[in-house]
Amino acid sequence: MRILSGIQPSGVAHIGNYFGAMRQHVALQDEGEGTYFIADYHSMTSLRDPAQRRDFVQEYVLDYLACGLDPKRAILYRQSDVPEVCELTWLLTTVTPMGLLQRAHSYKDKIAQGIQPDHGLFAYPVLMAADILQYNPDVVPVGQDQKQHLEMTRDIATKFNQAYDREVFKLPEPHILKDVAVVPGVDGQKMSKSYDNTLCMFWPQKKLKKAVMGIVTDSTPVEEPKSTDQTVFQLWSLFADEVEQEAMFAHAQRGGLGYGDVKKDLLKRMLEHFGPMREKRDELAKHPDEVEDVLADGARRAREISGPILAEAREAAGLGSGA
Ligand code: TRP
Repeated sequence: MRILSGIQPSGVAHIGNYFGAMRQHVALQDEGEGTYFIADYHSMTSLRDPAQRRDFVQEYVLDYLACGLDPKRAILYRQSDVPEVCELTWLLTTVTPMGLLQRAHSYKDKIAQGIQPDHGLFAYPVLMAADILQYNPDVVPVGQDQKQHLEMTRDIATKFNQAYDREVFKLPEPHILKDVAVVPGVDGQKMSKSYDNTLCMFWPQKKLKKAVMGIVTDSTPVEEPKSTDQTVFQLWSLFADEVEQEAMFAHAQRGGLGYGDVKKDLLKRMLEHFGPMREKRDELAKHPDEVEDVLADGARRAREISGPILAEAREAAGLGSGA
């Protein structure tokens, strides 16, 4: 079974990325051939600082490896190290209806936010379709927010196969990550770099402490019963088992529980949970050459899979000499 997913390096990875994607990607490497890439081409639709882009990619690679991605089993690569994906994007672009792209939620959301769209933003889903179709993967694990992009990928694959009357591309199955906790940010909205409400697992302790202590709560006094659907309890629950959660929730409902204590305990649990990963990450960061070797090897292995599929797409479309 081939598993494929990508992650856009648009900032520093936070616990929403960890619980929503990275942790699942790492777990899936036991179930098939995991192929994961850092989508630096995609980041160009929102980030214009080249040094920052390189930095973010580097950080994400360290994060993945620290979180347990094993480069001997799974393939990890930088999207732009396999630039052929841009050629496939063109082949797919020519069979993609304008209307399909105009209906994309993520595009419409960006416009609604007042962003001046460029063609890259508009064509984002076609690049994503090329990312996927170049490997003919069996499953593509993504969060709910990417479901429409996957449906578009299936539509685009169908259009290509029909246009050239050949089953070049397999229709990928979305694997919508279910048990994924919706991770709220410190302000209670969805955790997102663009809301500046993140908790990042590898921040220096002091910074993390400050952010945890800043989680919004209501103003119920310590002795009174507390409502457990608050952000601070949701975040805390990510790091506690069911028995612990029940005890905590019972205490909250009884009263006598201070938010400050819940936050301190959350911080302690976070540091414990990510402690071993942090050590591994610090160690890896001392050997940038080895990390680069992992990426080079990943790109080479990725290309071994994508090469024949790309060649078939070119052949089907009548490109090149055909020899
Ligand atoms: N658009 C995805 C996101 O923002 C990232 C992505 C790019 C991706 N290409 C992909 C995910 C291919 C899965 C498969 O999360």
